[in-house]
Amino acid sequence: MDTNDIRFFEVGPRDGLQNESRVLSCADRVAMIEKLVDAGVRDVEIGSFVHPRWVPQMAQTDEVARQITRREGVRYWALVPNLKGLERAREAGVEHVAVFMSATEAHNQSNLNRSLDESLAALKRTTEAAVSEGMVVRAYISTVFGCPFEGDVDFARVLEIGEELLGNGAEHLSLGDTIGAGTPLQVGQGCARAVQHFGVERVALHLHDTQGLAVASALMAYQAGVRLFDGAVGGMGGCPYAPGAAGNLASEDLVNLLLSMGARVDADLSALCEVTGWLSEEVGLSVRSRYYPYWRSQ
Ligand code: HMG
Ligand code: MG
Repeated sequence: MDTNDIRFFEVGPRDGLQNESRVLSCADRVAMIEKLVDAGVRDVEIGSFVHPRWVPQMAQTDEVARQITRREGVRYWALVPNLKGLERAREAGVEHVAVFMSATEAHNQSNLNRSLDESLAALKRTTEAAVSEGMVVRAYISTVFGCPFEGDVDFARVLEIGEELLGNGAEHLSLGDTIGAGTPLQVGQGCARAVQHFGVERVALHLHDTQGLAVASALMAYQAGVRLFDGAVGGMGGCPYAPGAAGNLASEDLVNLLLSMGARVDADLSALCEVTGWLSEEVGLSVRSRYYPYWRSQ
């Protein structure tokens, strides 16, 4: 990996849609994924195998996974909370899975109905089972820069959890600022510690843009050495079990920032804006992106 190369993870078809009041049809979800891949996205999260009563927006991920036309060189990821989710992923032909837990007890309980210790054990079982079957695992840690229930988070705890999750066999971590609580300074400092601790290939950053600071935080993270970034096209998204969670940092805002810094990103900026335009005008979702209206006006 060259120092200017970015590995960009498009999480819109999962995080972007899981908090929408409308449940999209399977056909729209498949079309969204295929348009993103056409836009040059090489890592795309297509949905989640969580309990359909907990997140009805993701209920048809099995069907979505079966319907997408796989393209060579593209990694199609799906979120799995436990062994049951892993089994569903396997049956649907998904080979890249993302496990997840929080850095804080209260959000973990709200989101997964488990204590941190129970989740550490469940993620170990799930990751080891996935790796033994030749799957690749990403591990999310949520609430790393602030928790809706517990407030401030000790970043040393994030590093400890990260060590365990990587020790189980996860390929990399994604550090989730679930409610967009982090300041650019805090995100920059945390990312510098994580990159130093785990290495550049093992640290991704997943920002939600609650305070309008996510682009500034992404810049600080880039300067701190982060080269793996998550974004959701159109800036949609949020965790339904984190009160106050806003949309993700919009992919087009993120990619625009990274290109302006001289970084290389596979995804094409204009093509991402076309997808945002399709979601807004044809699918009828409300998008929250700064760059998209500017791009349209050009
Ligand atoms: P639970 O109620 O404790 O489940 O929920 P359980 O283990 O007691 O099982 C109860 C029943 O659910 C059983 O069925 C299981 O088989 C079934 P029964 O025997 O009664 O017929 N079940 C399942 N069914 C389908 N798929 C499954 C599954 N697992 C059990 N995977 C559970 C525990 C984990 C299932 C629930 O809490 C859950 O689904 N939580 C997911 C919540 C979620 O999706 N949150 C949003 C994603 S995380 C996020 O957005 C943050 C992130 O973006 C990063 C960031 O921003 O920080 C990643
Ligand atoms: Mg998220």
